Amino acid sequence: MHSYIPEKTSQRESLFRRSRQRTVLMENRRRLKKIFIGILVGVTVTIIYLTAEDKSEPLYGPGYKKNNFTASQTPEPKWEDPGPYHVAYPRNYRFIMDDTPTCKTTSPFLILMVPVAPANVASRDTIRRTWGSEKLVLGQQIETVFIVGLPGGKAAKQLQDELREENKQHHDLIQSNFQDSYHNLTIKTMVMLEWLAEHCSKSTFIMKIDSDILLHVKKLVSLLLDLKTPKENYMTGLVWWHSPVLRNPFIKFYMPRDVIAESEYPPYPLGMAYVMSLDLPKKILSVSPQIKPIYIEDAYLGMCLKRLGISPTDPPDESMFQVTPQHPLSSCDLSKVIAMTTTSISQMQVYWQRIQQGVQCGA
Ligand SMILES: *[C@@H]1O[C@H](CO)[C@@H](O)[C@H](O)[C@H]1NC(C)=O
Ligand SMILES: *[C@@H]1O[C@H](CO)[C@@H](O)[C@H](O)[C@H]1NC(C)=O
Repeated sequence: MHSYIPEKTSQRESLFRRSRQRTVLMENRRRLKKIFIGILVGVTVTIIYLTAEDKSEPLYGPGYKKNNFTASQTPEPKWEDPGPYHVAYPRNYRFIMDDTPTCKTTSPFLILMVPVAPANVASRDTIRRTWGSEKLVLGQQIETVFIVGLPGGKAAKQLQDELREENKQHHDLIQSNFQDSYHNLTIKTMVMLEWLAEHCSKSTFIMKIDSDILLHVKKLVSLLLDLKTPKENYMTGLVWWHSPVLRNPFIKFYMPRDVIAESEYPPYPLGMAYVMSLDLPKKILSVSPQIKPIYIEDAYLGMCLKRLGISPTDPPDESMFQVTPQHPLSSCDLSKVIAMTTTSISQMQVYWQRIQQGVQCGA
């Protein structure tokens, strides 16, 4: 999602800020000690109380249960305005369309999950005709599903009817009842993880991929089959290391200091297309209640990964994931790509056909 080129931030500024923070910390240390002891007692009592309360509660966090149909009597969490930098998650969202056989009667090796705007049927159809049509690659079963929220605006009701018709035909839509919007992408990603944690633990990998991305499925599957590729705690893509927290209030992805004090986000794979092993959805959901969800979905996943002590992995070749490729790519350059941004539906089709015909370097 978050396909900007990072700004160069002043290192000096952040060093200065850190040393100043250190001085303030030292002054406060004594006072903190006393407070700390007080808090420690409080926390211990709370923990004893909570663990005694319900030992059977799974670790998934409050959001997880909300999509369990039978658990829909759970009271709505206290209403809280998320403000401009956070999203309304967790809440009692539930899936209102969810009849795909994927992960229910099948256990694919790889699930391709495509968050897409409800109205964007053109992209869904293009994906169904191109990389989404590849169901068996290198002997591995692959399935593609689309995830949407509720359509908004005047045409919402008609759009909802069309979505139902579309799903009757393809059975590949998953819909949760949050308001679908660009600002709400983090909600989409989190309910996607809830769905995966609930249904897909027998599968090995999931790729979250945006609807404007070209995917070379065979190249992706051969990376995932490589013995060097871990099957647990694994997340890869175009990893943004040292991504600065943008402090210019006039630009996209601005984030004030009182929301994120650090000058950098923890490392995270860019939202355009990332892979994770299927142990991770559950683990991410288990820590997410401790981290207030910012609206930048990929950076938020980075924050969750950091809390888990897990680092994303760079792909073996840096040209495998490209966010701003120089179009048109030569056959040689195209042969190295797993996922890249395209600028139109027809461009994606043309690239996919070129890949089908075979792309290679040299010769
Ligand atoms: C859903 O909730 C019900 C009742 O709380 C519980 O019995 C069931 O195991 C839950 N299902 C899952 C998949 O967590
Ligand atoms: C995000 O989703 C929540 C829950 O449906 C909704 O209340 C909120 O208005 C949505 N925000 C935007 C900007 O669409």
